[in-house]
Amino acid sequence: MIKTIVWQQTFGERVEGTRSILDALTHAGIGVLPLSPGEVEGAGIVFFHEMSDRLGEFVRDASRGGARRVLAVATGGAVTQQTVWQLLRHGASDVLAMDGRAEVARAAAARLTRWVEVDAIVDSSLVRDNLVGESNTWRAVMRQLVEAAHFTDAPILLQGDTGSGKELAARLVHSLDPGHGKGALVVVDCGAIAPELSGSEFFGHERGSFTGAVSARDGAFALANGGTLFLDELGDLPLRLQPELLRAVQECTYKRVGSNMWQKTHFRLVSATHRDLLGAVEQGQFRGDLYYRIASITIHLPSLRDRSEDVLPLARHFMSAIRRLHEPPEIEGIVERYLVERAYPGNVRELRQLVMRIMHRHVGPGPITAGDIPEDDRPDVDLSTSWLDIPFEGAIRRAVAQGVSLREIGQAATETAIRLAVDIEGNLQNAARRLHVTDRALQMRRAAKRQVHSTPTGPLPPIAN
Ligand SMILES: Nc1ncnc2c1ncn2[C@@H]1O[C@H](COP(=O)(O)OP(=O)(O)OP(=O)(O)O)[C@@H](O)[C@H]1O
Ligand SMILES: [Mg+2]
Repeated sequence: MIKTIVWQQTFGERVEGTRSILDALTHAGIGVLPLSPGEVEGAGIVFFHEMSDRLGEFVRDASRGGARRVLAVATGGAVTQQTVWQLLRHGASDVLAMDGRAEVARAAAARLTRWVEVDAIVDSSLVRDNLVGESNTWRAVMRQLVEAAHFTDAPILLQGDTGSGKELAARLVHSLDPGHGKGALVVVDCGAIAPELSGSEFFGHERGSFTGAVSARDGAFALANGGTLFLDELGDLPLRLQPELLRAVQECTYKRVGSNMWQKTHFRLVSATHRDLLGAVEQGQFRGDLYYRIASITIHLPSLRDRSEDVLPLARHFMSAIRRLHEPPEIEGIVERYLVERAYPGNVRELRQLVMRIMHRHVGPGPITAGDIPEDDRPDVDLSTSWLDIPFEGAIRRAVAQGVSLREIGQAATETAIRLAVDIEGNLQNAARRLHVTDRALQMRRAAKRQVHSTPTGPLPPIAN
Protein backbone atom coordinates (compact mmCIF):
# COMPACT_ATOMS: atom_id res chain seq x y z
CA MET A 1 0.00 0.00 0.00
CA ILE A 2 1.39 3.40 -0.97
CA LYS A 3 1.50 5.70 2.08
CA THR A 4 3.80 8.43 0.85
CA ILE A 5 4.60 10.10 -2.45
CA VAL A 6 8.01 11.56 -3.16
CA TRP A 7 9.32 13.16 -6.34
CA GLN A 8 12.33 12.05 -8.30
CA GLN A 9 14.71 13.77 -10.66
CA THR A 10 17.52 12.31 -12.71
CA PHE A 11 20.74 14.18 -13.44
CA GLY A 12 23.16 13.38 -16.22
CA GLU A 13 22.86 10.90 -19.06
CA ARG A 14 24.55 7.79 -17.76
CA VAL A 15 22.07 6.98 -15.06
CA GLU A 16 21.38 3.26 -14.83
CA GLY A 17 20.13 0.83 -12.26
CA THR A 18 17.67 3.14 -10.60
CA ARG A 19 15.03 0.44 -10.95
CA SER A 20 16.12 -1.47 -7.82
CA ILE A 21 15.82 1.68 -5.73
CA LEU A 22 12.40 2.54 -7.11
CA ASP A 23 11.20 -1.05 -6.48
CA ALA A 24 12.45 -0.90 -2.89
CA LEU A 25 10.63 2.39 -2.38
CA THR A 26 7.37 0.96 -3.75
CA HIS A 27 7.84 -2.06 -1.51
CA ALA A 28 8.20 0.27 1.49
CA GLY A 29 4.98 2.08 0.59
CA ILE A 30 6.61 5.06 -1.11
CA GLY A 31 5.24 6.13 -4.49
CA VAL A 32 7.63 8.03 -6.74
CA LEU A 33 6.50 10.63 -9.25
CA PRO A 34 8.67 12.49 -11.72
CA LEU A 35 9.23 16.08 -10.73
CA SER A 36 6.98 18.54 -12.51
CA PRO A 37 8.87 21.72 -13.36
CA GLY A 38 8.61 24.44 -10.75
CA GLU A 39 6.59 22.30 -8.36
CA VAL A 40 8.86 20.99 -5.68
CA GLU A 41 6.80 19.97 -2.67
CA GLY A 42 7.73 17.51 0.04
CA ALA A 43 10.60 15.04 -0.03
CA GLY A 44 12.38 13.81 -3.12
CA ILE A 45 15.17 11.67 -4.51
CA VAL A 46 17.79 12.81 -7.01
CA PHE A 47 19.73 10.29 -9.06
CA PHE A 48 23.02 11.61 -10.37
CA HIS A 49 26.12 10.31 -12.05
CA GLU A 50 28.62 12.97 -11.14
CA MET A 51 28.80 16.25 -9.29
CA SER A 52 28.16 19.43 -11.27
CA ASP A 53 27.22 23.05 -10.55
CA ARG A 54 23.79 22.40 -12.00
CA LEU A 55 23.25 19.47 -9.65
CA GLY A 56 24.38 21.59 -6.68
CA GLU A 57 22.02 24.40 -7.66
CA PHE A 58 19.17 21.95 -8.19
CA VAL A 59 19.68 20.38 -4.75
CA ARG A 60 19.89 23.82 -3.15
CA ASP A 61 16.67 25.02 -4.79
CA ALA A 62 14.76 21.76 -4.34
CA SER A 63 15.72 21.47 -0.69
CA ARG A 64 15.38 25.21 -0.08
CA GLY A 65 18.76 25.05 1.53
CA GLY A 66 17.84 22.00 3.63
CA ALA A 67 14.25 22.88 4.58
CA ARG A 68 12.93 20.06 2.41
CA ARG A 69 14.30 16.53 2.32
CA VAL A 70 16.35 15.52 -0.68
CA LEU A 71 18.12 12.18 -0.90
CA ALA A 72 20.93 12.19 -3.45
CA VAL A 73 21.83 8.80 -4.92
CA ALA A 74 24.99 8.36 -6.97
CA THR A 75 24.22 5.81 -9.66
CA GLY A 76 27.79 5.34 -10.75
CA GLY A 77 28.90 3.74 -7.49
CA ALA A 78 31.37 5.40 -5.12
CA VAL A 79 31.32 9.19 -4.73
CA THR A 80 34.22 11.35 -3.62
CA GLN A 81 34.21 12.78 -0.12
CA GLN A 82 34.17 16.24 -1.65
CA THR A 83 30.96 15.49 -3.55
CA VAL A 84 29.27 14.17 -0.42
CA TRP A 85 30.16 17.25 1.64
CA GLN A 86 29.20 19.59 -1.20
CA LEU A 87 25.78 18.00 -1.63
CA LEU A 88 25.11 18.04 2.10
CA ARG A 89 26.14 21.69 2.19
CA HIS A 90 23.74 22.44 -0.66
CA GLY A 91 20.94 20.99 1.50
CA ALA A 92 20.77 17.28 0.66
CA SER A 93 19.72 15.31 3.72
CA ASP A 94 21.95 12.37 2.78
CA VAL A 95 23.99 10.96 -0.07
CA LEU A 96 24.03 7.27 -0.94
CA ALA A 97 26.17 5.50 -3.51
CA MET A 98 24.58 2.69 -5.51
CA ASP A 99 27.09 -0.10 -5.44
CA GLY A 100 24.77 -2.93 -6.49
CA ARG A 101 23.97 -4.06 -2.98
CA ALA A 102 20.31 -4.44 -2.04
CA GLU A 103 20.97 -2.60 1.24
CA VAL A 104 21.36 0.68 -0.62
CA ALA A 105 17.83 0.45 -1.95
CA ARG A 106 16.49 -0.48 1.47
CA ALA A 107 18.53 2.28 3.11
CA ALA A 108 17.02 4.80 0.69
CA ALA A 109 13.50 3.60 1.49
CA ALA A 110 14.14 3.63 5.25
CA ARG A 111 15.54 7.15 5.19
CA LEU A 112 12.75 8.64 3.11
CA THR A 113 10.12 6.90 5.25
CA ARG A 114 11.63 8.25 8.48
CA TRP A 115 12.08 11.77 7.08
CA VAL A 116 8.50 11.94 5.88
CA GLU A 117 7.31 10.73 9.30
CA VAL A 118 9.46 13.27 11.12
CA ASP A 119 8.37 16.12 8.85
CA ALA A 120 4.70 15.18 9.26
CA ILE A 121 5.13 15.59 13.03
CA VAL A 122 7.10 18.84 12.57
CA ASP A 123 4.20 20.12 10.43
CA SER A 124 1.50 18.90 12.83
CA SER A 125 -0.51 21.44 14.78
CA LEU A 126 0.88 20.02 18.04
CA VAL A 127 4.30 21.31 17.06
CA ARG A 128 3.48 24.32 14.87
CA ASP A 129 0.88 25.88 17.17
CA ASN A 130 3.11 25.56 20.22
CA LEU A 131 6.63 26.19 19.04
CA VAL A 132 6.23 28.82 16.37
CA GLY A 133 8.89 29.42 13.74
CA GLU A 134 9.24 29.07 10.00
CA SER A 135 12.94 29.69 9.41
CA ASN A 136 15.17 26.88 8.18
CA THR A 137 17.16 27.19 11.39
CA TRP A 138 14.08 26.62 13.50
CA ARG A 139 12.82 23.81 11.30
CA ALA A 140 16.13 22.00 11.64
CA VAL A 141 15.88 22.28 15.43
CA MET A 142 12.31 21.00 15.43
CA ARG A 143 13.42 18.02 13.36
CA GLN A 144 16.11 17.18 15.89
CA LEU A 145 13.59 17.53 18.68
CA VAL A 146 11.00 15.31 17.00
CA GLU A 147 13.60 12.68 16.11
CA ALA A 148 14.93 12.61 19.64
CA ALA A 149 11.56 12.76 21.40
CA HIS A 150 9.50 10.44 19.25
CA PHE A 151 12.02 7.98 17.87
CA THR A 152 14.39 7.50 20.83
CA ASP A 153 14.11 7.32 24.60
CA ALA A 154 17.53 8.90 25.18
CA PRO A 155 18.04 11.67 27.76
CA ILE A 156 17.85 15.08 26.08
CA LEU A 157 19.73 18.22 27.11
CA LEU A 158 18.22 21.49 25.86
CA GLN A 159 20.67 24.38 25.69
CA GLY A 160 19.79 27.94 24.81
CA ASP A 161 19.78 31.53 26.00
CA THR A 162 17.12 32.78 28.34
CA GLY A 163 13.68 32.96 26.76
CA SER A 164 14.63 30.81 23.76
CA GLY A 165 11.91 28.24 24.47
CA LYS A 166 13.64 25.51 26.50
CA GLU A 167 10.69 24.89 28.75
CA LEU A 168 8.25 24.82 25.83
CA ALA A 169 10.57 22.37 24.07
CA ALA A 170 10.71 20.14 27.16
CA ARG A 171 6.92 20.09 27.29
CA LEU A 172 6.83 19.16 23.63
CA VAL A 173 9.25 16.27 24.22
CA HIS A 174 6.84 15.02 26.87
CA SER A 175 3.88 15.27 24.49
CA LEU A 176 5.73 13.61 21.62
CA ASP A 177 7.16 10.75 23.64
CA PRO A 178 5.32 7.64 22.45
CA GLY A 179 5.35 6.34 26.03
CA HIS A 180 3.50 9.48 27.10
CA GLY A 181 -0.05 9.16 28.36
CA LYS A 182 0.82 7.02 31.32
CA GLY A 183 2.74 9.44 33.50
CA ALA A 184 3.09 13.13 34.29
CA LEU A 185 5.64 15.78 33.39
CA VAL A 186 7.43 16.73 36.59
CA VAL A 187 9.46 19.95 36.58
CA VAL A 188 12.29 20.53 39.05
CA ASP A 189 13.96 23.94 39.06
CA CYS A 190 17.47 22.89 40.08
CA GLY A 191 18.56 26.49 40.60
CA ALA A 192 15.87 27.09 43.20
CA ILE A 193 16.33 24.00 45.39
CA ALA A 194 17.48 24.72 48.93
CA PRO A 195 20.44 22.33 49.45
CA GLU A 196 19.07 21.02 52.74
CA LEU A 197 15.79 20.09 51.05
CA SER A 198 17.25 18.71 47.83
CA GLY A 199 17.04 15.06 48.95
CA SER A 200 13.39 15.46 49.75
CA GLU A 201 12.66 17.38 46.52
CA PHE A 202 14.26 14.69 44.39
CA PHE A 203 13.52 11.53 46.34
CA GLY A 204 10.72 12.33 48.80
CA HIS A 205 10.79 11.69 52.54
CA GLU A 206 9.29 9.59 55.30
CA ARG A 207 7.20 11.12 58.04
CA GLY A 208 9.36 12.53 60.83
CA SER A 209 12.60 12.13 58.90
CA PHE A 210 13.49 15.76 59.60
CA THR A 211 11.96 18.71 61.41
CA GLY A 212 8.93 19.81 59.46
CA ALA A 213 8.41 16.44 57.74
CA VAL A 214 4.95 16.06 59.22
CA SER A 215 3.84 13.55 56.66
CA ALA A 216 5.46 11.26 54.11
CA ARG A 217 5.86 12.79 50.65
CA ASP A 218 6.82 11.63 47.18
CA GLY A 219 9.72 13.40 45.46
CA ALA A 220 10.19 14.22 41.78
CA PHE A 221 11.70 10.83 40.93
CA ALA A 222 8.60 9.03 42.19
CA LEU A 223 6.14 11.47 40.66
CA ALA A 224 7.80 11.22 37.24
CA ASN A 225 7.49 7.44 37.16
CA GLY A 226 6.05 6.47 33.78
CA GLY A 227 6.30 10.08 32.56
CA THR A 228 8.95 12.75 32.09
CA LEU A 229 11.36 14.29 34.58
CA PHE A 230 12.37 17.80 33.50
CA LEU A 231 15.46 19.08 35.33
CA ASP A 232 15.30 22.79 34.55
CA GLU A 233 18.37 25.03 35.04
CA LEU A 234 20.46 21.93 35.68
CA GLY A 235 23.64 23.99 35.27
CA ASP A 236 22.74 25.79 38.50
CA LEU A 237 22.67 22.59 40.58
CA PRO A 238 25.36 22.89 43.28
CA LEU A 239 28.30 20.56 42.73
CA ARG A 240 27.82 18.74 46.00
CA LEU A 241 24.25 17.72 45.07
CA GLN A 242 25.37 16.21 41.79
CA PRO A 243 26.67 12.75 42.91
CA GLU A 244 23.35 11.80 44.46
CA LEU A 245 21.47 12.87 41.38
CA LEU A 246 23.88 10.99 39.13
CA ARG A 247 23.38 7.72 40.95
CA ALA A 248 19.61 8.01 40.85
CA VAL A 249 19.58 8.94 37.16
CA GLN A 250 22.03 6.19 36.29
CA GLU A 251 20.38 3.39 38.18
CA CYS A 252 16.78 4.59 38.19
CA THR A 253 16.62 3.78 41.89
CA TYR A 254 16.34 6.09 44.88
CA LYS A 255 15.66 6.04 48.61
CA ARG A 256 13.26 8.42 50.34
CA VAL A 257 14.92 10.55 53.00
CA GLY A 258 14.56 8.59 56.24
CA SER A 259 14.00 5.24 54.51
CA ASN A 260 16.29 2.33 53.74
CA MET A 261 14.14 0.89 50.99
CA TRP A 262 15.29 1.24 47.39
CA GLN A 263 12.52 2.23 45.02
CA LYS A 264 12.54 1.81 41.27
CA THR A 265 11.39 4.47 38.86
CA HIS A 266 11.36 4.85 35.11
CA PHE A 267 11.00 8.11 33.23
CA ARG A 268 12.05 10.13 30.23
CA LEU A 269 14.79 12.54 31.28
CA VAL A 270 14.92 16.06 29.83
CA SER A 271 17.29 18.71 31.20
CA ALA A 272 17.74 22.35 30.31
CA THR A 273 20.35 24.99 30.91
CA HIS A 274 21.36 28.40 29.62
CA ARG A 275 24.96 27.66 30.64
CA ASP A 276 27.76 26.17 28.61
CA LEU A 277 27.77 22.91 30.55
CA LEU A 278 30.71 21.38 28.73
CA GLY A 279 32.74 24.48 29.59
CA ALA A 280 31.61 24.09 33.21
CA VAL A 281 32.78 20.45 33.11
CA GLU A 282 36.20 21.56 31.87
CA GLN A 283 36.43 24.08 34.69
CA GLY A 284 35.44 21.50 37.28
CA GLN A 285 32.14 23.23 38.08
CA PHE A 286 29.96 20.45 36.76
CA ARG A 287 30.54 16.71 37.01
CA GLY A 288 31.56 15.17 33.69
CA ASP A 289 29.92 11.83 34.47
CA LEU A 290 26.59 13.55 35.15
CA TYR A 291 26.94 15.65 32.01
CA TYR A 292 27.49 12.65 29.74
CA ARG A 293 24.63 10.81 31.44
CA ILE A 294 22.05 13.55 30.86
CA ALA A 295 23.30 14.80 27.47
CA SER A 296 22.93 11.75 25.21
CA ILE A 297 21.29 14.11 22.76
CA THR A 298 21.98 17.83 23.01
CA ILE A 299 19.71 20.26 21.22
CA HIS A 300 20.63 23.93 20.92
CA LEU A 301 17.66 26.28 20.79
CA PRO A 302 18.76 29.25 18.70
CA SER A 303 18.49 32.81 19.94
CA LEU A 304 16.00 35.04 18.17
CA ARG A 305 18.81 37.01 16.49
CA ASP A 306 19.79 33.84 14.63
CA ARG A 307 16.30 33.38 13.24
CA SER A 308 15.01 36.87 12.59
CA GLU A 309 12.66 35.51 9.88
CA ASP A 310 10.63 34.11 12.80
CA VAL A 311 10.03 37.45 14.51
CA LEU A 312 6.87 38.33 12.55
CA PRO A 313 5.30 34.85 12.65
CA LEU A 314 5.93 34.82 16.41
CA ALA A 315 4.52 38.34 16.81
CA ARG A 316 1.35 37.33 14.92
CA HIS A 317 1.10 34.19 17.04
CA PHE A 318 1.21 36.22 20.26
CA MET A 319 -1.26 38.79 18.88
CA SER A 320 -3.79 36.06 18.08
CA ALA A 321 -3.26 34.47 21.48
CA ILE A 322 -3.70 37.76 23.36
CA ARG A 323 -6.89 38.74 21.59
CA ARG A 324 -8.06 35.15 21.22
CA LEU A 325 -8.46 36.00 17.56
CA HIS A 326 -8.21 33.57 14.72
CA GLU A 327 -6.68 36.24 12.55
CA PRO A 328 -4.17 38.66 14.08
CA PRO A 329 -4.52 42.34 13.10
CA GLU A 330 -2.49 43.59 10.16
CA ILE A 331 0.85 45.18 11.03
CA GLU A 332 1.96 48.32 9.18
CA GLY A 333 5.27 48.09 7.34
CA ILE A 334 7.06 50.49 9.66
CA VAL A 335 6.07 48.40 12.70
CA GLU A 336 7.06 45.15 10.96
CA ARG A 337 10.45 46.61 10.24
CA TYR A 338 10.84 47.87 13.77
CA LEU A 339 9.96 44.44 15.17
CA VAL A 340 12.40 42.61 12.91
CA GLU A 341 15.29 45.03 13.38
CA ARG A 342 15.06 45.49 17.13
CA ALA A 343 17.38 43.48 19.40
CA TYR A 344 15.88 40.90 21.79
CA PRO A 345 18.38 39.97 24.50
CA GLY A 346 15.51 38.20 26.30
CA ASN A 347 14.64 36.34 23.08
CA VAL A 348 11.09 35.11 22.47
CA ARG A 349 9.97 36.05 25.98
CA GLU A 350 11.01 39.65 25.33
CA LEU A 351 9.23 39.71 21.97
CA ARG A 352 6.11 38.34 23.61
CA GLN A 353 6.14 41.02 26.28
CA LEU A 354 6.70 43.74 23.69
CA VAL A 355 3.79 42.46 21.62
CA MET A 356 1.60 42.48 24.73
CA ARG A 357 2.51 46.12 25.40
CA ILE A 358 1.72 47.03 21.79
CA MET A 359 -1.58 45.16 21.88
CA HIS A 360 -2.62 46.88 25.09
CA ARG A 361 -2.31 50.24 23.33
CA HIS A 362 -3.76 49.18 20.01
CA VAL A 363 -7.32 50.19 19.27
CA GLY A 364 -8.98 48.45 16.34
CA PRO A 365 -10.14 48.37 13.66
CA GLY A 366 -7.23 48.75 11.29
CA PRO A 367 -3.62 47.71 11.42
CA ILE A 368 -1.06 48.04 14.19
CA THR A 369 0.64 51.40 13.61
CA ALA A 370 3.82 53.04 14.90
CA GLY A 371 1.82 54.97 17.52
CA ASP A 372 0.89 51.64 19.12
CA ILE A 373 4.52 51.12 20.09
CA PRO A 374 4.91 52.43 23.67
CA GLU A 375 7.16 55.50 23.97
CA ASP A 376 9.82 53.66 25.96
CA ASP A 377 10.12 51.03 23.26
CA ARG A 378 10.56 53.40 20.34
CA PRO A 379 13.92 53.44 18.60
CA ASP A 380 16.00 56.55 19.11
CA VAL A 381 18.46 55.75 16.34
CA ASP A 382 18.15 55.36 12.62
CA LEU A 383 17.47 51.65 12.10
CA SER A 384 18.01 51.69 8.36
CA THR A 385 21.42 50.01 8.52
CA SER A 386 20.97 48.03 11.72
CA TRP A 387 21.66 44.79 9.84
CA LEU A 388 25.24 45.97 9.54
CA ASP A 389 25.90 44.51 12.96
CA ILE A 390 28.82 42.99 14.79
CA PRO A 391 28.76 39.47 13.21
CA PHE A 392 28.66 41.11 9.76
CA GLU A 393 31.60 43.29 10.61
CA GLY A 394 33.42 40.28 12.05
CA ALA A 395 33.16 38.38 8.76
CA ILE A 396 34.41 41.38 6.79
CA ARG A 397 37.23 41.92 9.29
CA ARG A 398 38.39 38.31 8.78
CA ALA A 399 38.25 38.76 5.01
CA VAL A 400 40.22 42.01 5.16
CA ALA A 401 42.77 40.45 7.52
CA GLN A 402 43.22 37.57 5.09
CA GLY A 403 43.81 39.98 2.23
CA VAL A 404 40.65 39.10 0.30
CA SER A 405 40.03 41.64 -2.49
CA LEU A 406 37.17 44.12 -2.39
CA ARG A 407 35.71 42.48 -5.49
CA GLU A 408 35.65 39.05 -3.85
CA ILE A 409 34.10 40.43 -0.66
CA GLY A 410 31.39 42.15 -2.70
CA GLN A 411 30.74 38.98 -4.70
CA ALA A 412 30.54 36.84 -1.57
CA ALA A 413 28.02 39.26 -0.01
CA THR A 414 25.94 39.23 -3.20
CA GLU A 415 26.05 35.42 -3.48
CA THR A 416 25.05 35.02 0.15
CA ALA A 417 22.15 37.45 -0.24
CA ILE A 418 20.89 35.59 -3.33
CA ARG A 419 21.21 32.20 -1.67
CA LEU A 420 19.31 33.36 1.42
CA ALA A 421 16.61 35.07 -0.64
CA VAL A 422 16.07 31.91 -2.70
CA ASP A 423 15.90 29.85 0.51
CA ILE A 424 13.30 32.17 1.98
CA GLU A 425 11.20 32.57 -1.18
CA GLY A 426 11.63 29.14 -2.73
CA ASN A 427 12.11 30.41 -6.28
CA LEU A 428 14.22 32.82 -8.25
CA GLN A 429 11.39 35.14 -9.31
CA ASN A 430 10.28 35.99 -5.79
CA ALA A 431 13.90 36.09 -4.61
CA ALA A 432 14.60 38.68 -7.30
CA ARG A 433 11.64 40.77 -6.16
CA ARG A 434 12.81 40.60 -2.56
CA LEU A 435 16.25 41.80 -3.60
CA HIS A 436 14.87 44.55 -5.85
CA VAL A 437 16.46 43.17 -9.02
CA THR A 438 14.96 41.55 -12.11
CA ASP A 439 14.77 37.73 -12.26
CA ARG A 440 16.75 37.94 -15.47
CA ALA A 441 19.58 39.59 -13.54
CA LEU A 442 19.67 36.67 -11.13
CA GLN A 443 19.44 34.09 -13.92
CA MET A 444 22.30 35.73 -15.79
CA ARG A 445 24.37 35.82 -12.69
CA ARG A 446 23.83 32.12 -12.07
CA ALA A 447 24.68 31.28 -15.66
CA ALA A 448 27.78 33.48 -15.46
CA LYS A 449 28.81 31.82 -12.20
CA ARG A 450 28.77 28.43 -13.89
CA GLN A 451 31.01 29.75 -16.63
CA VAL A 452 33.33 31.41 -14.16
CA HIS A 453 33.77 28.06 -12.45
CA SER A 454 35.11 26.62 -15.65
CA THR A 455 37.31 29.69 -16.31
CA PRO A 456 38.37 30.71 -12.81
CA THR A 457 39.78 34.12 -13.69
CA GLY A 458 36.67 35.72 -15.21
CA PRO A 459 34.81 38.35 -13.17
CA LEU A 460 31.08 38.08 -12.51
CA PRO A 461 28.85 40.64 -14.20
CA PRO A 462 27.41 43.31 -11.94
CA ILE A 463 23.74 42.95 -11.06
CA ALA A 464 21.46 45.25 -13.04
CA ASN A 465 18.56 46.76 -11.09
N1 LIG B 1 9.05 29.02 19.50
C1 LIG B 1 8.18 29.58 20.33
N2 LIG B 1 6.89 29.72 19.96
C2 LIG B 1 6.00 30.30 20.78
N3 LIG B 1 6.29 30.79 21.99
C3 LIG B 1 7.56 30.67 22.42
C4 LIG B 1 8.56 30.07 21.61
N4 LIG B 1 9.72 30.10 22.29
C5 LIG B 1 9.46 30.68 23.46
N5 LIG B 1 8.17 31.05 23.55
C6 LIG B 1 7.53 31.76 24.67
O1 LIG B 1 8.52 32.58 25.26
C7 LIG B 1 8.48 32.50 26.67
C8 LIG B 1 9.79 31.93 27.19
O2 LIG B 1 9.92 30.56 26.80
P1 LIG B 1 10.54 29.46 27.77
O3 LIG B 1 10.07 29.66 29.18
O4 LIG B 1 10.27 28.12 27.18
O5 LIG B 1 12.07 29.86 27.65
P2 LIG B 1 13.34 29.30 28.43
O6 LIG B 1 14.36 28.99 27.41
O7 LIG B 1 12.91 28.19 29.35
O8 LIG B 1 13.80 30.57 29.24
P3 LIG B 1 14.65 30.68 30.63
O9 LIG B 1 16.04 30.26 30.31
O10 LIG B 1 14.57 32.12 30.96
O11 LIG B 1 13.97 29.78 31.61
C9 LIG B 1 7.28 31.66 27.01
O12 LIG B 1 6.19 32.52 27.20
C10 LIG B 1 7.06 30.83 25.78
O13 LIG B 1 5.72 30.50 25.65
MG1 LIG C 1 13.07 28.03 31.47
